Amino acid sequence: MDIPSPESTADAFADRYGRRPDGVWSAPGRVNLIGEHTDYNDGLVFPFAIERRTWAAVGRREDRLLTVHSGAMPEPAQASLDSLNPEDFDGWSAYVFGVLWAMEQRGVDLAGRTGFDVMLASDVPLGAGLSSSAAIECAVASAVNDEWELGLSRRDLITICQLAENGAVGAPTGNMDQTASLMGKAGHGVLIDVRAETAEPVPLHFADEHLELLVIDTRVHHEHATGGYGARRRSCELGAQLMGVGSLRDLDEADLPRAAEVLDDETFRRVRHVITENARVARTAQVVAADGPRAIGDLLVASHASMRDDFEISVPELDLAVETALANGAIGARMTGGGFGGAAIALLDADRAEEVGGAIQAAFAAAELTAPIVFVVSPSDGAHRDL
Ligand code: GLA
Repeated sequence: MDIPSPESTADAFADRYGRRPDGVWSAPGRVNLIGEHTDYNDGLVFPFAIERRTWAAVGRREDRLLTVHSGAMPEPAQASLDSLNPEDFDGWSAYVFGVLWAMEQRGVDLAGRTGFDVMLASDVPLGAGLSSSAAIECAVASAVNDEWELGLSRRDLITICQLAENGAVGAPTGNMDQTASLMGKAGHGVLIDVRAETAEPVPLHFADEHLELLVIDTRVHHEHATGGYGARRRSCELGAQLMGVGSLRDLDEADLPRAAEVLDDETFRRVRHVITENARVARTAQVVAADGPRAIGDLLVASHASMRDDFEISVPELDLAVETALANGAIGARMTGGGFGGAAIALLDADRAEEVGGAIQAAFAAAELTAPIVFVVSPSDGAHRDL
């Protein structure tokens, strides 16, 4: 497949709809450097936007319809501004129509407005834990904000896109993905404090230090609308309740002895992960500023161990990718995203990337596992208008 671009997405729009679009907007996927399952606990997160993006070519219609087409999907999807109801949204189009529905829920008056035709194109891998869904939501929300001249802030758009994900798609996630996609900055991580509602760009200096960040997509499919993700979230809520706090953000390492007494073993380990992970995020941001990115490796490794042993969201493929990367000289490595599959990341010297990628492929082949997809990403800009 050719890699899409703003121009090719505009051309695809013209082929499909017989006119040029009004514009093209795009938003990136993300990797999370550190801070997993902390976002819905009011905690700290440190992701960055990647160069893999979703483009949305958009043109206003004269009626109330919304139509969405994507080269990857055979059939276009359709909805009406008169009756936006998540129960009617099907599959991938929920990410698009869900944004319009969420805007209405957040007070955008749809009366008197006209709909859109949308053509989507993306090079964010699906189901790899790199937030292909947030990329769609944030590209569409940015387009609609401009097209309807709504004047919504990026903070408003984060809330709207998270509501689309939670209420229309049905995945009970936090807002890390949407925050990274909307607030990303080239060369920078986005240090998010969910409780304080801040998202601060922090220089990562990977290129200055001749480092690269490898993504290893294990191709083990993950699904956050069902299963383990929601169970982990409920454990965290139970832990907070039993500890008598509003959220796990109210606890720190000094509370661990009491937590060990109050909580059952499983809930205790879930809570310990979140408490120690918040501390690791804060430390990572300090260390990267004071000593540079080469000094954060141990924090990444400790984060992986905590997800594997305490939060129990890793899978053998992710562990194998992390262990093989470390055994071959990576500075740090961990699984990234919600877990139960998806991708791992490895921070390494740029001139070792090929060798480490090869070693990971060989390890997967030796274990008779599906070959992973390995590629380099760099911190990139967030959502914007391209054309
Ligand atoms: C998924 C969710 C995020 C976050 C991560 C885990 O990516 O979409 O909100 O909870 O999992 O850190």
